[in-house]
Amino acid sequence: MLKYRRKIVLFEKISVSLFIFSLFGCHTDMWVQPKVKAQHESEVFPHGQGSRDLPKGVVSKEHLKDDDAYYKGRIDGKLVDVFPFKITDKMMRNGLVLYNDFCSHCHGATGNGNGMIAQRGLNLTRNPRNLHEKRLLDAPVGHFFDVISNGSGVMFPLASSLNTEERWQIVAYIKALQASQDGRLSDVPQMHLKDLYAVPNSTAANKGIESK
Ligand code: HEC
Repeated sequence: MLKYRRKIVLFEKISVSLFIFSLFGCHTDMWVQPKVKAQHESEVFPHGQGSRDLPKGVVSKEHLKDDDAYYKGRIDGKLVDVFPFKITDKMMRNGLVLYNDFCSHCHGATGNGNGMIAQRGLNLTRNPRNLHEKRLLDAPVGHFFDVISNGSGVMFPLASSLNTEERWQIVAYIKALQASQDGRLSDVPQMHLKDLYAVPNSTAANKGIESK
């Protein structure tokens, strides 16, 4: 029994020694060598800055984001007023889901600025904007992309939660939302005008009204 315990103690001693040795014994080769760490100072270069500027004409080996209209919502610094891609039905549907998930709790499902948070949640310094106000009806699409990407006033940016495509899909959906609350008689195609004044059959039947 005693012999067995001695063996265990010996085994423990060897393990601890090996562990300590592994802490100090390694990393003597390339670990310790003169080098400049990213963003650290350096005496080698004239302005004392270790990180070097990219050489002229260098090309990204990852995805090149040189389409400013798409990635920034701007061309030469000016907000774009047309969508920089073709909008599909699928995009609109995604936009609806994303708007409901990321915006509606503040701006409301219809965009009137009266979401649940505005009604009874956070005590915000300023209320979420009504997306149907004149200034925003007239705003270029790039403005909405910019607000979602970079925030606006007390509204935080959402670029870390939504990728570029998703942000544009929300913008496309906002334009549809705006149109939905800004309908005019002139928007209705001639052939459907008469339907506007027709009393639905079921209502007519229930109330005994004759449909025109
Ligand atoms: C937590 C609440 C909240 C969420 C979530 C939110 N917003 Fe806002 N938003 C605000 C507030 C508050 C303002 C007003 C900011 C100000 O005037 O300082 C605002 C302003 C705006 C404006 C108007 C900017 C201008 O020109 O004045 C737009 C457009 C907008 N939000 C779009 C969105 C979209 C799109 C989403 C979803 C991707 C979103 N917001 C999510 C609270 C929110």
